[in-house]
This record gives sequence, C-alpha cells and structure tokens, in this order.
Amino acid sequence: MPNASTDPRTRSLEPLRELYYAHYRFQYLSAACQFGLFELLGREPGLTRAEIAVRLEIEEQPARILLLGCTSAGLLRKEDDRYFNSPVSEPLAGKLDDVPAAFVPWEQHINYRPMAWFYESLKAYSNVGLQREIPGDSPTLYGRLALDSQQETVFHNMMGSVSRLVAEELVEHLDLSGYTHLLDIGGGTAVNATHLARRWPHLRITIADLPTVAERANEKIASLGLSDRVRAIGLDVFEDEFPQGCDAVLFGHFLEIWSIERNKGLIAKAARAVEPGAGIFVVTPEAHDDDTGPDVAAALSAYFLTVASGEGMVYTCREYEEWFSEVGFEPSGRLSVGIGDAVITGTKR
Ligand SMILES: C[S@@+](CC[C@H](N)C(=O)[O-])C[C@H]1O[C@@H](n2cnc3c(N)ncnc32)[C@H](O)[C@@H]1O
Repeated sequence: MPNASTDPRTRSLEPLRELYYAHYRFQYLSAACQFGLFELLGREPGLTRAEIAVRLEIEEQPARILLLGCTSAGLLRKEDDRYFNSPVSEPLAGKLDDVPAAFVPWEQHINYRPMAWFYESLKAYSNVGLQREIPGDSPTLYGRLALDSQQETVFHNMMGSVSRLVAEELVEHLDLSGYTHLLDIGGGTAVNATHLARRWPHLRITIADLPTVAERANEKIASLGLSDRVRAIGLDVFEDEFPQGCDAVLFGHFLEIWSIERNKGLIAKAARAVEPGAGIFVVTPEAHDDDTGPDVAAALSAYFLTVASGEGMVYTCREYEEWFSEVGFEPSGRLSVGIGDAVITGTKR
C-alpha cells in the first residue's frame, strides 16, 4: 500500500496543503524566535528535548510540540534525541535586528492578525485589517504606530534592516556627485540619508517624515555627528508642499504605500519643488512588468492593502517611468539593489 508521501493522490495535493498549513509553520517559527530557541541551539548545539524545555522554562510536553513543528518545517535537525539548527534557521541565531530575523516580529506583532481580514479588505478596497486589529484613529499604519512606541520600534527595526542592505548598495551605485541638496521623502529613521551623507561629504540632505519619526531620525543623525548637513523635518507630505531649494528627490520605500492617484500627485509635487536638471530616485520592491510576481511583490501588495494604507501595492518600474514622464521628469534608468529592490531614476526636463 502506498504511504502518504508516495501516493500520487496525496502528492498532487501537496502544493495546496503547503498553502493552507503555512500559517501553522509561521507560528512555529515565530514561537521559536520568541523563545530564543535558535540562539540557544547556536550557543549549545545538540541539546535534548528535556534540556531545551528547562532552558525555555516550559513543560516538556509543549516543548515536544514546538520541536516537532520546527523539525518538520526544516527549522531544526534531529539526530538521535539531540536537536541542531538547520541551514534555514542558522541566520536566526544572532543579529536579531538584521535581515532576516527582524522580519519575524514584524509579521507576528504587526501583520499576522490584520492579514486575516484580507478578503474583507479586497471587497471594501480598504485596510479593514488595520481598522479591526490595530488601535488608533489614523487611516494608516504609520499614524497608528506613533501611539505605540514598542510597535513603532518593531516596524523600524524591520525597515532599518532592509534599508541598511539597500543603503549599502545605493552608496555604491547611485551617483550623487552632481547634486547639492537631496530631499528624502518619507526618509524614516535616516538609514538611507546617513549612508548617503557619509558617501557624499558635499551633500546636504533634508528628510521629510511624520513628526514622531523625524524626532527619532534627528536623534540618530546627531549621534552620528551629521547634524550640520542632515536634518529631518516633521510634515505630512499630503498636507504640505515639499521644501524648496533641493536639486534631487528620493522616494525610498514610500510610493508603493499609496494609490496611483496619490503617487502621481506626489511626483508632481516633487516636480514643482525642483528646477530643470534636478534628479528623482524611486527605491521600491521590484515587480515584473507583466504583474506575474515575484512573491515578495504579491505579499507586500496584500500588506499595503490590508494593513499599511488600504490603497497601495508594489507597482512596476514601467508605471513609475510613465508617471515621471507625465509631470516632466525624463526617465533615465533602472538599477537592482538590496534584496529584490529597484531604483528608478529620472531628470527634470
Ligand atoms: C516604508 S517606510 C520607508 C522609510 C525609509 N524611506 C526607508 O527606505 O527606510 C515609510 C515611511 O513613510 C513615512 N510616512 C508615512 N506617511 C507619511 C506622510 N503622510 N508624510 C510623511 N511621511 C510619511 C513613515 O513614517 C515611514 O517612515
């Protein structure tokens, strides 16, 4: 008699089963991270179940369930009765503020519950997940994060971990030698700005972000001794015009949050704020020009709709180039950076 893994009827169901069990696998991963299991096995490889239960301060029976799930998900390797990290979980054994570890608390504490409202969000074309699960009145996640500094920290740890990777490549590939003053819209906690300022010592940078975030950014800028050239100002980019006097504008991981109409408005605002010859740089997750993927673009699009803003998605480079052209920026190229990001560049005519 064929067993479950060789029976062709069961095998053909496997791709579907992977999908409907995915949320259990994530919970095994998240619980293991919260317990510090991978760090523990990084320090003390080869512990037994009983030893792990003692270290995690839980009963042996729940420890058995946790270890069963982590082993079956490929997060742990079991040899005789001893457990080891696998190549999949090894990156989670240290550097908790870096990619990929910083993604797990973000998914667990911010997105997991809201994402159960995806269907309703599609029907309503609104972020029902945010409205049902995250306290506050603000229509966006960013406004509500300002009410909960722990959540805001989880978000900015994750965002910072991605931005550091991107920023390290931006300094390599983005030529800012011809610009004097960069405006960094939605510049967050200044990861891109501080990297770029160090790379280009002649460059001044103004970050525009929400007031609580601008405050965090200015603290970081001061701690790095860059306050003479880099500063963050608190504003709402939809309510206020952009500051004048800059000759380049950066939208880093910002435009995918918003609707097509709002993005066209923001790019037009950028065009109004600068003179001919000024540069525009959009850093955004890459999406295939024909809307077929990749999976990161699909996941983030669901997140922007259900949680972050209720209106954004990962747009294609081609769309950004069309929006540039409509308001007077000449598209000048595309670069791939970080872990699946694109930079779309243009120049004001
Ligand atoms: C996804 S983060 C990107 C941060 C940064 N650019 C980076 O690449 O790391 C988006 C940023 O937009 C800011 N933001 C959201 N709504 C905003 C608004 N209406 N005005 C200004 N900034 C806003 C958020 O506070 C957050 O820092």
